[in-house]
This record gives sequence, C-alpha cells and structure tokens, in this order.
Amino acid sequence: MSRTRTSDVLVIGGGIIGLVTAWRAAQRGFATAVLDPEPGGGAAQVAAGMLAAVTELHYGEQTLLGLNLASARRYPDFAAELTELTGHDLGYRRCGTLAVALDADDRAHLRELHALQQHSGLESQWLSGRECRRLEPMLAPGVRGGLRVDGDHQIDPRRLAGALVAACEQAGVVFHRVWAERLTVARDRATGVVTTDGTELGAGQVVLAAGSLSGRLAGVPEDVLPPVRPVKGQVVRLTMPQRHGPFLSRTVRAVVRGSHVYLVPRESGELVVGATSEEMGWDTTVTAGGVYELLRDAHELVPGITELPLTETRAGLRPGSPDNAPLLGPTELDGLLLATGHYRNGVLLTPVTGDALAHALATGELPGEARPFTPKRFSTATALTEQPA
Ligand code: GLY
Repeated sequence: MSRTRTSDVLVIGGGIIGLVTAWRAAQRGFATAVLDPEPGGGAAQVAAGMLAAVTELHYGEQTLLGLNLASARRYPDFAAELTELTGHDLGYRRCGTLAVALDADDRAHLRELHALQQHSGLESQWLSGRECRRLEPMLAPGVRGGLRVDGDHQIDPRRLAGALVAACEQAGVVFHRVWAERLTVARDRATGVVTTDGTELGAGQVVLAAGSLSGRLAGVPEDVLPPVRPVKGQVVRLTMPQRHGPFLSRTVRAVVRGSHVYLVPRESGELVVGATSEEMGWDTTVTAGGVYELLRDAHELVPGITELPLTETRAGLRPGSPDNAPLLGPTELDGLLLATGHYRNGVLLTPVTGDALAHALATGELPGEARPFTPKRFSTATALTEQPA
C-alpha cells in the first residue's frame, strides 16, 4: 500500500453535494480533498435542475419543506457568488413554474396541492385553463386549470457542477481522481479511506457524499451505513426553436396518469423533459418504454414537442432515503459525516447542504434548520429512546 497523505477533510464523492461541501469547507480554512474518478459527474449530469420547493411539496413532508425553502432563499446569493468567483454562467433562471391539470382527477389533485400550499403559507395562484394558455400558448387546449408559482425557478445542473469544480480548484481543494475501496477506522473513529488503486488517504474528518452509492462503502459500520437506495430517473433533452418568441417561458409540469412529467426550458434553447421514477437498483439503461412514456405525457401537455429535435436521452440515479429527506452531518462514528439521501431535491438543497456541512465540520453540530436531518434519526439507539410511551 502507498503512503498516507492527509487532509483535514476528505469528501467521498464529487457530485454537486460533495463539491459544495468541499468548497465551503475549504473556504473555512480546512485543507480539503475530494475523492471521485469524475468530479462534477453523477446525477447532476442528468437532472433538470428545477428549484421547486413549492410545486414539489408533498403531504407529510413539511419538515423537508423548511429546508427546501431555506435553500431556495439562498440561491440568488449562492449563484451570484459562484459566478463572480468562477466566471461561469450557471443558467440560473428566475422564470417561475406552472403546474397544470389535464382532467378532472388531475384538477382535484392540484386543488389539494393548492390547499396544502396555502396552509403552509406558500405563494401560488390558481388559474383557469384559459389563463394558463394565455401564459403559455403552446399548452394543449384541453388543460383544465393550473397553479402559477412564481417562486419556483431553475438552474442548469451541468453548469452548476462545472462551476463548483472551478470554485473548489480556486479554493485549493485537492482532487483524487479515483474511487474509495473502503473507509478506514481506528479506535472507533473514521480516519480516511483506502482507494481502489491502493493508496491510503488519511483525514481528520471524512464526509460521505457519494449519492446513491453512499449506502455501500465497505468499512462503514453496519449501524452507521446510510439507508440510501438508487431511484432511477430517465430524462430526454430536446431543442426548442429560437425564432418566434419562446416556445415555453417557464417550467411546466403535471401529474399525468399518476406520473410526474415536467418540461424545463433553458435560455440556451434546451428543453429538458423528465422524469421516470423506477426502483431498478443500479441500472441506468435508457429504455424505449421510459422515453415513450415521457414523450407521450409531455405531448399531452404541449403537443408541439413532437416537432422538436430530440438531442439526448439519459438515465440517472437519485439517492432515495426512507423519509425522502437528506442525511446531513455527524454520524455515530466519530470523524464520519454524511451529506447524502437528497432524493428529488439535490440541486435545490445544494446551497444549504454546503453551509450545514461546513458548520458541522467546524463545530461538530448542525445548524438549527438542518438538525431534523441528522443521520442519527435512523439509528436504532436513537429510535428506541424516541419511541412514544
Ligand atoms: N426533482 C425532480 C426529479 O427528481 O425528477
């Protein structure tokens, strides 16, 4: 085995969550390293980049809503800081979102979502079908109503990942372009990793931020291993005409036959249509059925999409957790922290995750807004002591 090189903080995983953690840690003065064969890769290369705290609200997820909103509020400053530092345009677009209904069932579902949003103090406006089409003339004539949410924006996750790599480089983060073979533990404390090329890397603290792979790193004690699983999402990319005004001016989404479909128009002319949600293990095959269903549902919303060039099909893996919320901060194993399990909200939660992890690395504690997301909520000992009498 080669000799040990040490850092204060070693981040396993160079997706957007690992990168933002490393960047913020380096800004706090920690000597920081990131371990990933392809920094900036992962789910961000597939994700549409909706910042949809309000339109992706679900019953039973009000605690997560608090974190989502905290992150959404940080986005303007976060994006400006990254752009100023790196010169990268992130494709951050404050365009709002329109969630529409195609039939009576969809409309009832959307009415319930509207009631939940109002109950939660969120801003959204009910529109008739005609009002929806006035906003977005390419919508199908059959649209029965919709919710206008001006606060749900978008960013281009590929550009975000590229900017975070650049910001890390500028901040002095060291990249090890290799994967982790196993975590090393000595005297009940995480001490670093052994990489797949046999190098031993020591660290004062280790952050496991490997997305859907976080649950299967060797050497992590069973009771600390995060309960994260891959949830496959297939996405297609089309190109919109630039000639006669915008094809779509904001994100448009709906639930069609029980499946979420969204169309995210970028200023560059790219139109991202997503996404399937499949429990298929680590399979990332793009299937004819997945693409067919996405295009069929998107076509019901916006019939004109069939005229557009199809430029890309891709599948990625969301890191799903048992309660659909992330696992953030210190674990029961000293020296090991988690930043994983972001499921459908990884892009949205990037700013708040970086801040929360940097705080935890510096103080040993999560900031107040991130405390409900401690990984310890899943540990047997904590669960037993928190049982109601
Ligand atoms: N947040 C959108 C998705 O996960 O498909």
